[in-house]
Amino acid sequence: MPIPSTQKAVVVEQVGGPEVLQYRTDYPVPTPGEGQVLVKNTLSGINFIDTYFRIGLYPSPKPEVLGREGTGVIVALGPDLEKHDFKVGDRVVWLGNAGYAEYTAAPVAQMMKLPDGLSDVDAVGSYLSGLTALALTEEAYRVEPGDWVLLHAAAGSTGILMTQILKTLGAKVIGTAGGPEKVAFVKSLGADHVIDYRSEAGKNWVDEVKRLTNQEGVDVVYDSVGEETWEGDREVAKRKGTIVWFGNASGPVPPLPLK
Ligand SMILES: NC(=O)c1ccc[n+]([C@@H]2O[C@H](COP(=O)([O-])OP(=O)(O)OC[C@H]3O[C@@H](n4cnc5c(N)ncnc54)[C@H](OP(=O)(O)O)[C@@H]3O)[C@@H](O)[C@H]2O)c1
Repeated sequence: MPIPSTQKAVVVEQVGGPEVLQYRTDYPVPTPGEGQVLVKNTLSGINFIDTYFRIGLYPSPKPEVLGREGTGVIVALGPDLEKHDFKVGDRVVWLGNAGYAEYTAAPVAQMMKLPDGLSDVDAVGSYLSGLTALALTEEAYRVEPGDWVLLHAAAGSTGILMTQILKTLGAKVIGTAGGPEKVAFVKSLGADHVIDYRSEAGKNWVDEVKRLTNQEGVDVVYDSVGEETWEGDREVAKRKGTIVWFGNASGPVPPLPLK
């Protein structure tokens, strides 16, 4: 199949709300550089981080094609690819830039070949979020059986994976989620307690976490909500506990005075 010179892509020329997303049919197909291959995407992952680049919370040069992950088939190799184990025709999942497009020049250093039996949907649904969940539970804080864990936004895509991994590790999980449907969903994933932090009662989630943990607090808080929740986290982490802030869904955590 010949590679075209232009493609369909979603381009952002200036920071702003969703209205700055431009659907284009004449965007240049990139040429893979050193350490890259050209992937014809079958799926483009959509992640919360894309919004940070769109609104300028994370600075990046514009114009920009958003999208940090995808799946597809390699259609061309970059200049130095003989020493790598990737070839044209390989089905892959990748992390990189410019995924909201038909073709992406993606780095092989952040790419995996997909085994038969693993669908593109499952691969892209678990790559960026899954690696994040593993890094959070194994590296940022190593979760041990019996640990009390507070997980905010447990019904989000990272939260869904986190909840299941935490239960597999033997933690006691308190999740927060917005609305009864999300609460029921997170419970169905195995969470021990789920607080609807958007409900009137759930707004007092700090007291509820203290009550559930016998006033001791949790061993670790995983918080990707940020601005709306960071202060409460400091009250519910137990003595010598850990708070991991890893996202800004409601806005960033402000500079933190240590006093
Ligand atoms: N540091 C990293 O490497 C890394 C990697 C992946 C993801 N993350 C972070 O993890 C978080 C989740 O990412 P995701 O891709 O899994 O996103 P997602 O599926 O869209 O989930 C985001 C969740 O955030 C909650 N939320 C709370 N306040 C919100 C607000 N003001 N606006 C929108 N949503 C709000 C929502 O749950 P409720 O409605 O239940 O509140 C929603 O389920 C993001 O903060 C992201 O930046 C960080």
